[in-house]
Amino acid sequence: METKVLKANRTNIEYAARLIMQDEIIGFPTETVYGLGANVFSKKAVAKIFKAKDRPADNPLIVHIAELSQLEEIAFNLNNLEKQIVDLFWPGPLSIILKVKPVIPKIVTAGLDTVAVRMPAHPIAKQIINAANVPIAAPSANLSSKPSATSAQYVLDDFKGKILLIIDGDSCQFGLESTVVKVTNGQINILRPGAITKEMLEKVAPTEYKKFQQDGTPMSPGVKHPHYNPNAKVILVMGDNKREIKEKIYIAKNKTKKQAFYGFDKIVDEKDFVISMILKGEDCLYEYAKNLYSFFRDCDKIGIEEIITHQVPAKGLGHAIMNRINKASDLVV
Ligand code: TXA
Ligand code: MG
Repeated sequence: METKVLKANRTNIEYAARLIMQDEIIGFPTETVYGLGANVFSKKAVAKIFKAKDRPADNPLIVHIAELSQLEEIAFNLNNLEKQIVDLFWPGPLSIILKVKPVIPKIVTAGLDTVAVRMPAHPIAKQIINAANVPIAAPSANLSSKPSATSAQYVLDDFKGKILLIIDGDSCQFGLESTVVKVTNGQINILRPGAITKEMLEKVAPTEYKKFQQDGTPMSPGVKHPHYNPNAKVILVMGDNKREIKEKIYIAKNKTKKQAFYGFDKIVDEKDFVISMILKGEDCLYEYAKNLYSFFRDCDKIGIEEIITHQVPAKGLGHAIMNRINKASDLVV
């Protein structure tokens, strides 16, 4: 099949909506990463997502809505804290786990009694959901275990010939997947950190990062599976100060390997690497997050063997960055 990449004008958004209604799957932009979307009520369409991504069947999808009224179709009544969270952070980069209504096919939720719901802020995502007039189930638009796609071209790299349409909405504002939260007993649990940070959520209610339930099972099935892996080996250099990081990078440098560097200013000499992205200034965590996956993917395209990156302070957005890099890394030094 031919995969078309089309600009987001009215005609093409209507075409995207028609494909959704015909049980096809499409690539579309959100402000976090691109999604691979299907009509949430169509088992047949949702099955195509799992097949195209080669996604384990036990890893549930996020359901995307454009209007609050759509929430009633999907989830049971929200408690006050859940209402406060969606009032404050929607539309935006936050998904919330809620009690699912039986009308949602089991394939979407991997048979759980809960469902992840998100209202994206991206105008194109919103227009597509509204035009299709159904909530759209969508994981990130990448092959399973690969870094998420942050532009239409990266979606095409993974799904050329496997899907009919990608709507191009340029590169994503945040570049990391949404924060996933679940409320229990008046506490907000962060299952996956993202651009809505712990510091922001703490203003609403006590907030903790929580990977596992009391019986040891993961809060989020996705935790079990590999993620964000480029083909290149990722070396994560840990250290509390620039000198320590600099020394460790010096040791990790290897003239016989095609190496790339991704990190902050004044730590390395660009000439030592085949490619590098060196972010300047004190407050560049936002850029670090936004460009991380595209850097990984660009490295793979030119056959980089090793990517050296380094620790960033795990505060605010830094926590989400460290979560992704830790998962992507093959070696921590
Ligand atoms: O920013 C994003 O969240 C992007 C865009 C497209 O919205 N989507 C995304 O989807 O990253 P995905 O499928 O790559 O990640 C969804 C995560 C997985 O870790 C999954 O395990 C978790 O959400 N999840 C989904 N439903 C869940 C549930 N009922 N309970 C716990 N975790 C759930
Ligand atoms: Mg994903």
